[in-house]
Amino acid sequence: LSSIVSKQEQQKMINVAHRGASGHAPENTMAAFHKGFEMKADYIEIDVQMTKDGELIAIHDTTVDRTTNGTGAVGSLTFEEIRQLDAGSWFGPEFAGEKVPTFEEILDAFRGKVGILIELKAPELYPGIEEKVAEALMERNLHRPNNEKIIIQSFNHESMQTSKELLPNVPHGVLAGASWADVTEEQLAEFATYADYFNPNMNIVTHDLVADVHEADMKIYPYTSRSQEQALRLFDLGVDGIITDYTEHVYHHPVKS
Ligand code: G3P
Ligand code: CA
Repeated sequence: LSSIVSKQEQQKMINVAHRGASGHAPENTMAAFHKGFEMKADYIEIDVQMTKDGELIAIHDTTVDRTTNGTGAVGSLTFEEIRQLDAGSWFGPEFAGEKVPTFEEILDAFRGKVGILIELKAPELYPGIEEKVAEALMERNLHRPNNEKIIIQSFNHESMQTSKELLPNVPHGVLAGASWADVTEEQLAEFATYADYFNPNMNIVTHDLVADVHEADMKIYPYTSRSQEQALRLFDLGVDGIITDYTEHVYHHPVKS
């Protein structure tokens, strides 16, 4: 069967483990990132925010309430306070003791082993976060053109423009929620002046959108697939990659009959 699949259809689908392999381990923990690596994801996706005392950490919500045993806004707690929290038990007792990881720990553990899709989460809450991220990458020589796959993305497009100026050789992405369903070719062309990726909510993806994003010379990695059916639909629409909680849904491009 595979012999009748066209070259185009065999093109590799990029597999992004959302917040790590978050269907299998507590999101944004080393356990989830290791799981994504073990499952052979192309990238792990991480949500980066900043503590009260300026440490970059990986956590999704702007409070620690849902994913740890603590309470409070990320930006109102010190790193020491956040580091004491249990970020695993909420997902399952076998993950008790997982910590909130730092951005730098993640870079050091995974650079060169798996791509890292860095989301700046709510950067408007953390003035200077773009500079801090840039410093961490520069200290590791990850700001130069290299083979270690690093992408920076955000729903905050102004933040991406700032970051692109600091890190002109690092690919950037704009995240686009459902309100961008009617994004115009002109808007895509504007994004393409600083971004290489247009990564939308999967519900707004159509053949036309994929064509327009490609026309603007960007790639498209929609978020967040949580079922095999959703991944298959995105395959059929011709996206370049899929951001998923279930890495195993994106292993193979389906063979068209
Ligand atoms: O990678 C994109 C996706 O993570 C955006 O949504 O809420 O899961 O950060 P969210
Ligand atoms: Ca994210």
